[in-house]
Amino acid sequence: MQTVHSIAEVQDIISVRRSEGLRIGFVPTMGNLHGGHLTLVEQAKQHCDIVVVSIYVNPLQFGPNEDYDSYPRTMEQDQQLLIEHGVDLLYAASTTEIYPEGSENHTHVSVEVLDGMHCGMSRPGFFRGIATVVTKLFNIVRPDVAVFGEKDVQQLTIIRKMVKDMCMPVDILGAPIAREETGLAMSSRNGYLSREEREDIAPTLYQCLLAAKEAIQAGESDFDLLRRDAFAKMAQAGFKPDYFNICNTETLLPATHNEKSLVILAAGFLGKARLIDNIYFERD
Ligand code: PAJ
Repeated sequence: MQTVHSIAEVQDIISVRRSEGLRIGFVPTMGNLHGGHLTLVEQAKQHCDIVVVSIYVNPLQFGPNEDYDSYPRTMEQDQQLLIEHGVDLLYAASTTEIYPEGSENHTHVSVEVLDGMHCGMSRPGFFRGIATVVTKLFNIVRPDVAVFGEKDVQQLTIIRKMVKDMCMPVDILGAPIAREETGLAMSSRNGYLSREEREDIAPTLYQCLLAAKEAIQAGESDFDLLRRDAFAKMAQAGFKPDYFNICNTETLLPATHNEKSLVILAAGFLGKARLIDNIYFERD
């Protein structure tokens, strides 16, 4: 695996491979890789001839009081994992090239309405930061296929809309959520949790999603009641609940009572971490 840091190097290497007729798969990440990221790599390998991974902790998607400075940076360990998983090229991007005149003094991409819901309510500017950096990374790598995790379902929905609206020539694939044995969705931010928080409290988030899904499938249609129940369970376990929204799978708008395909998105603060999760299901 080659590791490169500059836009010119990425473009030189990839243009040679593209001229050989190879399909380029791309997995953008912020590093501190875990099983969830590796699922995306495996999916990219299945669909493409060469796999490019980027690692870049994007300052534009962090709010002023968020964890940009403390976000875990584990480059050597990440490189090792990517070598073991057969990745061809690692692009470790640098802020001097991504935002040469500063991140605010840069063209921004916004996917409006969707970017103000759910996570966007407690993290203003978050999805603008994501859409901007992903656009730039797509233009640098010019992949045929890019893989994103369903764990960040709002991010995935926003990227799909951006690609469709802007006619970006890339296929977006979603990869299923990788979970720990307790059901907790894998996340770089799980590392902020104490052992007790991680093992005993954090899995409550997924348990609340499963309980609401089962209740809906058993015929419950009072979504406010389900939200209140979930908030109470989360708070009792030690979370500060953020949202628990039962939505249409395509639009992520609040579900109406006759929709069949549903997704529940949930978020809560636990210790030093803010955790998110979701569940998709059909009801009869
Ligand atoms: P990051 O949090 O590093 O995640 C990179 C990719 O891994 C995203 O597509 C995310 O949805 C996926 N992922 C994370 N945890 C997962 C899990 N448990 N199961 C499946 N997939 C999982 O998301 C970002 O970085 C950034 O916003 C980025 C897109 C790189 C833009 O900066």
